[in-house]
Amino acid sequence: MHLQNKNILLGVTGGIAAYKAVELLRFFKKTGANVNVIMTGSALKFVGKTTFEVLSENPVLSDLFSDTKSSVKHIDLAARADAAVIAPATANTIAKLANGIADDALSTTLLAVTCPVMICPSMNTYMYQNIRVQENIDILEKDGFFILDPDSGVLACKTTGAGRLPEPWFIFDRVEAMLTKKDLRNKKILISAGPTLEAIDPVRFVSNHSSGKMGYAIAGAAEKRGGCVTLVSGPVGLKTPAGVERIDVETCEEMASQMLARLESADIIIKVAAVADYKPVNPKTHKIKKKDSTKDFSILMTENTDILKLIGKKKTKDQFLVGFAAETDDLEKNALLKMKKKNLDIIAANLVGTSDSGFKADTNKVKLFFKDGSFFDIPLMDKSKVADTLMDQIIKKRAE
Ligand SMILES: Cc1cc2nc3c(=O)[nH]c(=O)nc-3n(C[C@H](O)[C@H](O)[C@H](O)COP(=O)(O)O)c2cc1C
Repeated sequence: MHLQNKNILLGVTGGIAAYKAVELLRFFKKTGANVNVIMTGSALKFVGKTTFEVLSENPVLSDLFSDTKSSVKHIDLAARADAAVIAPATANTIAKLANGIADDALSTTLLAVTCPVMICPSMNTYMYQNIRVQENIDILEKDGFFILDPDSGVLACKTTGAGRLPEPWFIFDRVEAMLTKKDLRNKKILISAGPTLEAIDPVRFVSNHSSGKMGYAIAGAAEKRGGCVTLVSGPVGLKTPAGVERIDVETCEEMASQMLARLESADIIIKVAAVADYKPVNPKTHKIKKKDSTKDFSILMTENTDILKLIGKKKTKDQFLVGFAAETDDLEKNALLKMKKKNLDIIAANLVGTSDSGFKADTNKVKLFFKDGSFFDIPLMDKSKVADTLMDQIIKKRAE
Protein backbone atom coordinates (compact mmCIF):
# COMPACT_ATOMS: atom_id res chain seq x y z
CA MET A 1 0.00 0.00 0.00
CA HIS A 2 1.45 3.30 -1.03
CA LEU A 3 0.23 6.35 0.81
CA GLN A 4 0.03 8.68 -2.18
CA ASN A 5 -3.12 10.82 -1.89
CA LYS A 6 -4.11 9.17 1.39
CA ASN A 7 -5.35 11.36 4.24
CA ILE A 8 -3.19 10.79 7.29
CA LEU A 9 -3.99 12.18 10.72
CA LEU A 10 -0.82 12.69 12.71
CA GLY A 11 -1.44 13.14 16.44
CA VAL A 12 1.45 14.62 18.42
CA THR A 13 1.36 14.54 22.21
CA GLY A 14 3.53 16.05 24.95
CA GLY A 15 6.46 13.66 25.11
CA ILE A 16 10.15 14.34 24.79
CA ALA A 17 10.14 12.55 21.40
CA ALA A 18 7.65 15.05 19.87
CA TYR A 19 10.46 16.43 17.68
CA LYS A 20 10.66 13.07 15.85
CA ALA A 21 7.09 13.62 14.60
CA VAL A 22 8.49 16.36 12.34
CA GLU A 23 10.60 13.82 10.44
CA LEU A 24 7.71 11.36 10.35
CA LEU A 25 5.59 14.08 8.76
CA ARG A 26 8.33 14.53 6.12
CA PHE A 27 8.16 10.82 5.22
CA PHE A 28 4.38 11.03 4.73
CA LYS A 29 4.68 14.16 2.62
CA LYS A 30 7.48 12.72 0.47
CA THR A 31 5.26 9.80 -0.45
CA GLY A 32 2.48 12.17 -1.57
CA ALA A 33 0.11 11.80 1.39
CA ASN A 34 -2.07 14.64 2.68
CA VAL A 35 -1.29 15.10 6.37
CA ASN A 36 -3.33 16.88 9.03
CA VAL A 37 -1.53 17.35 12.31
CA ILE A 38 -3.37 17.53 15.64
CA MET A 39 -1.30 18.60 18.65
CA THR A 40 -2.13 18.47 22.33
CA GLY A 41 -1.53 21.51 24.54
CA SER A 42 1.48 19.73 26.08
CA ALA A 43 2.93 18.88 22.64
CA LEU A 44 3.00 22.61 21.88
CA LYS A 45 5.38 23.08 24.81
CA PHE A 46 7.88 20.76 23.07
CA VAL A 47 7.61 21.72 19.36
CA GLY A 48 6.09 24.77 17.66
CA LYS A 49 2.98 24.61 15.53
CA THR A 50 4.64 26.54 12.69
CA THR A 51 7.03 23.73 11.75
CA PHE A 52 4.15 21.27 11.34
CA GLU A 53 2.01 23.83 9.46
CA VAL A 54 4.72 24.70 6.97
CA LEU A 55 5.74 21.08 6.35
CA SER A 56 2.21 19.66 6.18
CA GLU A 57 0.85 22.63 4.18
CA ASN A 58 -2.22 22.40 6.40
CA PRO A 59 -3.33 24.24 9.53
CA VAL A 60 -2.57 22.39 12.77
CA LEU A 61 -5.56 21.64 14.98
CA SER A 62 -4.81 22.11 18.66
CA ASP A 63 -7.78 24.02 20.00
CA LEU A 64 -11.16 22.33 19.63
CA PHE A 65 -12.99 25.66 19.80
CA SER A 66 -10.71 27.82 17.65
CA ASP A 67 -12.62 27.60 14.36
CA THR A 68 -16.21 26.42 14.57
CA LYS A 69 -17.64 28.88 12.05
CA SER A 70 -17.24 27.02 8.78
CA SER A 71 -17.37 23.35 9.82
CA VAL A 72 -16.92 21.05 12.77
CA LYS A 73 -13.23 20.64 12.08
CA HIS A 74 -12.46 17.56 14.19
CA ILE A 75 -15.42 15.58 12.80
CA ASP A 76 -14.46 16.64 9.31
CA LEU A 77 -10.84 15.46 9.76
CA ALA A 78 -11.96 12.19 11.37
CA ALA A 79 -14.36 11.42 8.53
CA ARG A 80 -11.74 11.98 5.83
CA ALA A 81 -8.87 10.08 7.49
CA ASP A 82 -7.54 6.88 5.85
CA ALA A 83 -5.20 6.28 8.79
CA ALA A 84 -4.31 7.92 12.08
CA VAL A 85 -1.00 7.66 13.90
CA ILE A 86 -0.22 9.02 17.35
CA ALA A 87 3.54 9.51 17.59
CA PRO A 88 4.65 9.96 20.27
CA ALA A 89 1.72 8.79 22.40
CA THR A 90 2.01 9.85 26.05
CA ALA A 91 0.79 7.77 29.00
CA ASN A 92 -1.84 10.46 29.52
CA THR A 93 -3.27 10.34 25.98
CA ILE A 94 -3.18 6.53 25.98
CA ALA A 95 -5.21 6.57 29.23
CA LYS A 96 -7.72 8.97 27.71
CA LEU A 97 -8.16 6.88 24.57
CA ALA A 98 -8.56 3.67 26.57
CA ASN A 99 -11.31 5.26 28.63
CA GLY A 100 -13.19 7.26 26.04
CA ILE A 101 -12.23 10.64 27.43
CA ALA A 102 -12.61 13.49 24.94
CA ASP A 103 -11.33 16.68 26.52
CA ASP A 104 -9.08 18.11 23.79
CA ALA A 105 -8.84 18.22 19.98
CA LEU A 106 -6.85 14.98 19.63
CA SER A 107 -8.81 12.75 22.00
CA THR A 108 -12.13 14.06 20.67
CA THR A 109 -11.13 13.50 17.02
CA LEU A 110 -9.93 9.98 17.79
CA LEU A 111 -13.32 9.05 19.23
CA ALA A 112 -14.81 9.94 15.86
CA VAL A 113 -12.40 8.13 13.50
CA THR A 114 -13.35 4.87 11.83
CA CYS A 115 -9.99 4.29 10.06
CA PRO A 116 -7.08 2.14 11.36
CA VAL A 117 -5.18 3.87 14.19
CA MET A 118 -1.57 3.28 15.19
CA ILE A 119 -0.43 4.21 18.70
CA CYS A 120 3.31 4.67 19.35
CA PRO A 121 3.82 4.74 23.14
CA SER A 122 6.91 6.64 24.20
CA MET A 123 7.86 7.42 27.77
CA ASN A 124 10.23 6.68 30.65
CA THR A 125 10.73 2.92 31.17
CA TYR A 126 9.09 2.84 34.62
CA MET A 127 6.12 4.83 33.31
CA TYR A 128 5.86 2.36 30.42
CA GLN A 129 6.00 -0.62 32.77
CA ASN A 130 3.41 0.91 35.10
CA ILE A 131 0.49 -1.47 35.53
CA ARG A 132 -2.14 1.15 34.60
CA VAL A 133 -0.26 2.12 31.42
CA GLN A 134 0.08 -1.54 30.43
CA GLU A 135 -3.62 -2.15 31.13
CA ASN A 136 -4.56 0.84 28.99
CA ILE A 137 -2.34 -0.37 26.13
CA ASP A 138 -3.96 -3.83 26.39
CA ILE A 139 -7.44 -2.26 26.18
CA LEU A 140 -6.47 -0.36 23.05
CA GLU A 141 -4.92 -3.46 21.46
CA LYS A 142 -8.06 -5.50 22.19
CA ASP A 143 -10.14 -2.72 20.67
CA GLY A 144 -8.23 -3.07 17.39
CA PHE A 145 -5.71 -0.24 17.67
CA PHE A 146 -2.26 -1.09 16.23
CA ILE A 147 0.34 -0.71 18.97
CA LEU A 148 3.91 -0.12 17.86
CA ASP A 149 6.17 -1.31 20.66
CA PRO A 150 8.74 1.23 21.79
CA ASP A 151 12.46 0.61 21.25
CA SER A 152 14.82 -0.08 24.12
CA GLY A 153 17.99 1.81 24.93
CA VAL A 154 19.19 4.83 26.87
CA LEU A 155 16.29 7.29 27.12
CA ALA A 156 16.38 11.10 27.30
CA CYS A 157 15.73 10.82 31.06
CA LYS A 158 18.95 8.71 31.31
CA THR A 159 17.01 5.53 32.21
CA THR A 160 17.94 2.43 30.21
CA GLY A 161 15.08 0.26 29.02
CA ALA A 162 11.95 0.22 26.86
CA GLY A 163 10.20 3.49 26.04
CA ARG A 164 12.02 5.12 23.15
CA LEU A 165 9.97 6.15 20.11
CA PRO A 166 11.04 4.01 17.10
CA GLU A 167 12.78 5.81 14.25
CA PRO A 168 10.45 7.80 11.95
CA TRP A 169 11.23 5.63 8.85
CA PHE A 170 10.15 2.58 10.81
CA ILE A 171 6.88 4.16 12.00
CA PHE A 172 6.18 5.25 8.41
CA ASP A 173 6.87 1.72 7.15
CA ARG A 174 4.55 0.19 9.76
CA VAL A 175 1.74 2.63 8.86
CA GLU A 176 2.08 1.46 5.24
CA ALA A 177 1.97 -2.15 6.50
CA MET A 178 -1.11 -1.41 8.62
CA LEU A 179 -3.01 -0.30 5.52
CA THR A 180 -1.81 -3.14 3.26
CA LYS A 181 -4.17 -6.00 2.39
CA LYS A 182 -2.74 -9.25 3.81
CA ASP A 183 -2.97 -11.31 0.63
CA LEU A 184 0.20 -13.30 1.44
CA ARG A 185 -0.71 -14.16 5.03
CA ASN A 186 1.14 -17.28 6.25
CA LYS A 187 2.90 -17.72 2.91
CA LYS A 188 6.62 -18.45 3.12
CA ILE A 189 8.64 -16.30 0.75
CA LEU A 190 12.32 -16.97 0.14
CA ILE A 191 14.23 -14.12 -1.53
CA SER A 192 17.88 -13.68 -2.48
CA ALA A 193 19.37 -10.23 -3.05
CA GLY A 194 22.60 -8.34 -3.59
CA PRO A 195 25.87 -9.44 -5.17
CA THR A 196 28.15 -12.32 -4.21
CA LEU A 197 31.86 -11.88 -3.52
CA GLU A 198 34.36 -14.45 -4.77
CA ALA A 199 37.80 -14.21 -3.20
CA ILE A 200 40.97 -13.84 -5.28
CA ASP A 201 43.12 -13.53 -2.16
CA PRO A 202 42.40 -12.30 1.40
CA VAL A 203 42.09 -8.65 0.24
CA ARG A 204 40.66 -8.86 -3.29
CA PHE A 205 37.51 -10.30 -4.81
CA VAL A 206 35.43 -10.62 -7.97
CA SER A 207 31.91 -9.17 -7.70
CA ASN A 208 29.36 -6.96 -9.51
CA HIS A 209 27.45 -3.68 -9.08
CA SER A 210 24.26 -5.12 -7.55
CA SER A 211 23.12 -2.84 -4.68
CA GLY A 212 20.41 -5.19 -3.37
CA LYS A 213 17.79 -2.40 -3.58
CA MET A 214 15.36 -4.35 -5.78
CA GLY A 215 15.48 -7.54 -3.68
CA TYR A 216 15.13 -5.60 -0.42
CA ALA A 217 12.13 -3.70 -1.83
CA ILE A 218 10.49 -7.02 -2.79
CA ALA A 219 11.17 -8.45 0.68
CA GLY A 220 9.57 -5.37 2.27
CA ALA A 221 6.55 -5.51 -0.03
CA ALA A 222 5.98 -9.23 0.66
CA GLU A 223 6.26 -8.75 4.44
CA LYS A 224 3.71 -5.91 4.39
CA ARG A 225 1.26 -8.28 2.67
CA GLY A 226 1.56 -10.70 5.59
CA GLY A 227 4.24 -12.98 4.08
CA CYS A 228 6.77 -14.76 6.25
CA VAL A 229 9.90 -13.52 4.48
CA THR A 230 13.47 -14.82 4.60
CA LEU A 231 16.05 -12.75 2.75
CA VAL A 232 19.37 -14.36 1.90
CA SER A 233 21.59 -11.39 1.20
CA GLY A 234 25.00 -10.77 -0.26
CA PRO A 235 27.01 -7.86 1.20
CA VAL A 236 25.00 -4.61 0.83
CA GLY A 237 24.68 -1.41 2.85
CA LEU A 238 20.90 -1.52 3.28
CA LYS A 239 18.63 -1.64 6.33
CA THR A 240 16.83 -4.95 6.79
CA PRO A 241 13.14 -4.40 5.95
CA ALA A 242 10.90 -4.53 9.04
CA GLY A 243 9.73 -8.02 10.01
CA VAL A 244 12.06 -9.79 7.55
CA GLU A 245 14.50 -12.53 8.60
CA ARG A 246 17.87 -11.72 7.00
CA ILE A 247 20.69 -14.18 6.47
CA ASP A 248 24.01 -12.68 5.41
CA VAL A 249 26.25 -14.54 2.99
CA GLU A 250 29.29 -13.64 0.88
CA THR A 251 29.94 -16.28 -1.73
CA CYS A 252 27.78 -18.10 -4.24
CA GLU A 253 28.35 -21.38 -2.39
CA GLU A 254 27.15 -19.85 0.90
CA MET A 255 24.10 -18.40 -0.84
CA ALA A 256 23.33 -21.73 -2.48
CA SER A 257 23.50 -23.66 0.77
CA GLN A 258 21.32 -21.13 2.68
CA MET A 259 18.73 -21.02 -0.11
CA LEU A 260 18.60 -24.80 -0.56
CA ALA A 261 18.29 -25.39 3.20
CA ARG A 262 15.08 -23.32 3.17
CA LEU A 263 13.71 -24.36 -0.20
CA GLU A 264 11.40 -27.18 0.85
CA SER A 265 9.18 -25.04 3.08
CA ALA A 266 8.99 -22.04 0.70
CA ASP A 267 5.78 -21.24 -1.21
CA ILE A 268 7.32 -18.53 -3.38
CA ILE A 269 11.01 -18.19 -4.28
CA ILE A 270 12.24 -14.94 -5.81
CA LYS A 271 15.88 -14.92 -6.89
CA VAL A 272 16.97 -11.32 -7.31
CA ALA A 273 20.63 -11.74 -6.30
CA ALA A 274 23.30 -11.13 -8.92
CA VAL A 275 25.39 -14.22 -8.31
CA ALA A 276 28.89 -14.32 -9.78
CA ASP A 277 28.81 -16.85 -12.63
CA TYR A 278 32.52 -17.60 -12.21
CA LYS A 279 34.92 -17.69 -9.29
CA PRO A 280 38.73 -17.87 -9.06
CA VAL A 281 39.90 -21.50 -9.18
CA ASN A 282 42.41 -21.25 -6.38
CA PRO A 283 41.90 -18.29 -4.08
CA LYS A 284 45.28 -17.55 -2.49
CA THR A 285 45.66 -17.62 1.29
CA HIS A 286 48.22 -14.78 1.19
CA LYS A 287 47.97 -11.41 -0.55
CA ILE A 288 49.25 -11.62 -4.12
CA LYS A 289 52.26 -9.31 -4.44
CA LYS A 290 52.85 -7.01 -7.41
CA LYS A 291 55.77 -8.18 -9.57
CA ASP A 292 57.81 -5.57 -11.45
CA SER A 293 58.78 -8.20 -14.02
CA THR A 294 55.19 -8.98 -15.20
CA LYS A 295 52.87 -6.54 -16.94
CA ASP A 296 49.95 -8.92 -17.45
CA PHE A 297 48.18 -10.84 -14.79
CA SER A 298 45.49 -13.46 -15.22
CA ILE A 299 43.25 -15.33 -12.85
CA LEU A 300 41.91 -18.72 -13.82
CA MET A 301 38.18 -18.79 -13.18
CA THR A 302 35.77 -21.69 -12.91
CA GLU A 303 31.99 -21.96 -13.10
CA ASN A 304 30.01 -21.28 -9.92
CA THR A 305 26.94 -23.23 -8.80
CA ASP A 306 23.88 -22.17 -10.81
CA ILE A 307 21.53 -21.61 -7.85
CA LEU A 308 18.49 -20.70 -9.95
CA LYS A 309 18.86 -23.75 -12.17
CA LEU A 310 19.19 -26.02 -9.13
CA ILE A 311 16.06 -24.55 -7.54
CA GLY A 312 14.22 -24.84 -10.89
CA LYS A 313 15.04 -28.55 -10.96
CA LYS A 314 14.02 -29.19 -7.36
CA LYS A 315 10.85 -27.09 -7.22
CA THR A 316 7.53 -28.86 -6.72
CA LYS A 317 4.33 -28.07 -8.63
CA ASP A 318 3.02 -26.05 -5.66
CA GLN A 319 6.07 -23.82 -5.52
CA PHE A 320 6.31 -20.62 -7.56
CA LEU A 321 9.71 -19.54 -8.86
CA VAL A 322 10.63 -16.05 -10.05
CA GLY A 323 14.00 -15.10 -11.50
CA PHE A 324 15.52 -11.81 -12.56
CA ALA A 325 17.52 -11.24 -15.71
CA ALA A 326 19.81 -8.22 -15.87
CA GLU A 327 20.87 -7.73 -19.47
CA THR A 328 22.69 -5.05 -21.39
CA ASP A 329 21.23 -6.13 -24.77
CA ASP A 330 18.81 -8.61 -26.40
CA LEU A 331 16.71 -8.36 -23.26
CA GLU A 332 13.67 -10.31 -24.44
CA LYS A 333 15.54 -13.11 -26.20
CA ASN A 334 17.93 -13.71 -23.29
CA ALA A 335 15.18 -13.51 -20.70
CA LEU A 336 12.94 -16.03 -22.46
CA LEU A 337 15.85 -18.40 -22.87
CA LYS A 338 16.70 -18.14 -19.19
CA MET A 339 13.07 -18.71 -18.16
CA LYS A 340 12.93 -21.95 -20.11
CA LYS A 341 16.38 -23.21 -19.09
CA LYS A 342 15.75 -22.60 -15.40
CA ASN A 343 12.11 -23.72 -15.21
CA LEU A 344 10.78 -20.37 -13.97
CA ASP A 345 7.17 -19.25 -13.60
CA ILE A 346 8.07 -15.60 -14.15
CA ILE A 347 11.20 -13.88 -15.35
CA ALA A 348 11.58 -10.19 -14.55
CA ALA A 349 13.85 -8.71 -17.17
CA ASN A 350 15.54 -5.38 -16.68
CA LEU A 351 18.06 -3.50 -18.73
CA VAL A 352 21.15 -2.58 -16.78
CA GLY A 353 23.69 0.05 -17.75
CA THR A 354 21.27 3.02 -17.66
CA SER A 355 21.23 5.48 -14.74
CA ASP A 356 17.50 5.18 -13.96
CA SER A 357 17.06 1.41 -13.96
CA GLY A 358 18.85 -1.75 -12.90
CA PHE A 359 21.75 -1.79 -10.44
CA LYS A 360 22.10 0.96 -7.81
CA ALA A 361 19.21 3.14 -9.13
CA ASP A 362 16.20 3.84 -6.87
CA THR A 363 13.91 3.33 -9.85
CA ASN A 364 13.51 0.44 -12.24
CA LYS A 365 11.78 -0.49 -15.47
CA VAL A 366 10.95 -4.19 -15.78
CA LYS A 367 9.26 -6.47 -18.26
CA LEU A 368 7.67 -9.58 -16.79
CA PHE A 369 7.47 -12.67 -18.98
CA PHE A 370 5.16 -15.46 -17.85
CA LYS A 371 5.41 -19.19 -18.46
CA ASP A 372 2.14 -19.12 -20.42
CA GLY A 373 3.72 -16.81 -23.03
CA SER A 374 2.08 -13.58 -21.87
CA PHE A 375 4.00 -10.56 -20.60
CA PHE A 376 3.48 -7.45 -18.48
CA ASP A 377 5.35 -4.13 -18.68
CA ILE A 378 6.22 -2.30 -15.48
CA PRO A 379 7.12 1.25 -16.54
CA LEU A 380 9.88 3.28 -14.88
CA MET A 381 8.94 3.77 -11.24
CA ASP A 382 10.31 3.65 -7.73
CA LYS A 383 11.67 0.19 -6.84
CA SER A 384 9.15 -0.13 -3.97
CA LYS A 385 6.33 0.31 -6.50
CA VAL A 386 7.95 -2.13 -8.93
CA ALA A 387 8.11 -4.60 -6.01
CA ASP A 388 4.41 -4.15 -5.26
CA THR A 389 3.42 -4.56 -8.91
CA LEU A 390 5.51 -7.73 -9.14
CA MET A 391 3.83 -9.14 -6.01
CA ASP A 392 0.39 -8.37 -7.54
CA GLN A 393 1.36 -10.32 -10.66
CA ILE A 394 2.77 -13.26 -8.66
CA ILE A 395 -0.45 -13.50 -6.62
CA LYS A 396 -2.56 -13.30 -9.78
CA LYS A 397 -0.56 -15.95 -11.63
CA ARG A 398 -0.46 -18.32 -8.63
CA ALA A 399 -4.25 -18.08 -8.37
CA GLU A 400 -4.58 -19.03 -12.05
C1 LIG B 1 10.28 17.43 30.05
C2 LIG B 1 9.09 16.52 30.03
C3 LIG B 1 9.15 15.38 29.25
C4 LIG B 1 8.06 14.50 29.21
N1 LIG B 1 8.14 13.39 28.45
C5 LIG B 1 7.10 12.53 28.44
C6 LIG B 1 7.17 11.37 27.64
O1 LIG B 1 8.16 11.11 26.94
N2 LIG B 1 6.11 10.52 27.68
C7 LIG B 1 5.00 10.75 28.44
O2 LIG B 1 4.10 9.92 28.43
N3 LIG B 1 4.91 11.88 29.17
C8 LIG B 1 5.92 12.77 29.19
N4 LIG B 1 5.82 13.91 29.94
C9 LIG B 1 4.59 14.16 30.69
C10 LIG B 1 3.49 14.69 29.79
O3 LIG B 1 3.90 15.88 29.13
C11 LIG B 1 2.24 14.96 30.64
O4 LIG B 1 1.75 13.75 31.16
C12 LIG B 1 1.17 15.66 29.86
O5 LIG B 1 0.00 15.78 30.67
C13 LIG B 1 0.80 14.92 28.58
O6 LIG B 1 -0.23 15.60 27.91
P1 LIG B 1 -0.84 15.11 26.54
O7 LIG B 1 -1.05 13.65 26.62
O8 LIG B 1 -2.11 15.85 26.41
O9 LIG B 1 0.13 15.52 25.47
C14 LIG B 1 6.90 14.80 29.98
C15 LIG B 1 6.85 15.96 30.72
C16 LIG B 1 7.92 16.82 30.75
C17 LIG B 1 7.83 18.07 31.58
